[in-house]
Amino acid sequence: MTIIGFIGSGYIGGTVARLSVEAGYQVVMSNSRGPATLADVVADIGPLARAASAEEAAATGDIVVVSIPFRAYRSVPAEPLAGKAVLDTCNYYPERDGHIAVLDDGIETSSELLQRQLAGAQVDAGNLADSWRQEPGTPVYGPPYGSFSDESGTPAGEAVIREALEKASR
Ligand SMILES: NC(=O)c1ccc[n+]([C@@H]2O[C@H](COP(=O)([O-])OP(=O)(O)OC[C@H]3O[C@@H](n4cnc5c(N)ncnc54)[C@H](OP(=O)(O)O)[C@@H]3O)[C@@H](O)[C@H]2O)c1
Repeated sequence: MTIIGFIGSGYIGGTVARLSVEAGYQVVMSNSRGPATLADVVADIGPLARAASAEEAAATGDIVVVSIPFRAYRSVPAEPLAGKAVLDTCNYYPERDGHIAVLDDGIETSSELLQRQLAGAQVDAGNLADSWRQEPGTPVYGPPYGSFSDESGTPAGEAVIREALEKASR
């Protein structure tokens, strides 16, 4: 069975983990404070979930979701993620993360900085320099999955996502 590792188990990591378990995957959850602090999260997700350190979640996952405040991106362990697909949900919010000049100036994207941290890992939604196409406010950032009031959401296939990515303007 495919195992999905999670670095970050908050609002987004927890939601993707629940949906992953519903789809039949095992999940390994982690955060910054250690596995003991994730007992309630894991119990809530169910028997296909367990808690681990970030290093272990990265090493155990066949696919790994990184879903942390962007300011912490340098703490994501690179070595265990080499050769793996990494799903980066992180967004740069300067008011939360502190200002990062290359992002403020549009010289680089937050996903490019994470990719540099994770030398050897992979992402599959196109060129990292184009990752602005999925930043907050773009057509792919939520709308394909339906209204926020519908908690179960609407599955969106690859064609819908690629079309929304194409529609983005900077
Ligand atoms: N909320 C949204 O609607 C939304 C939508 C799309 C994308 N995003 C982006 O996705 C990311 C996560 O958002 P969220 O709303 O899920 O945040 P959140 O609820 O605050 O959860 C953040 C998680 O990251 C963990 N974490 C923090 N630093 C860490 C580190 N150094 N190593 C491992 N885990 C660490 C936290 O654990 P501790 O509590 O132990 O520190 C917590 O489990 C953010 O970049 C956000 O901007 C959010």
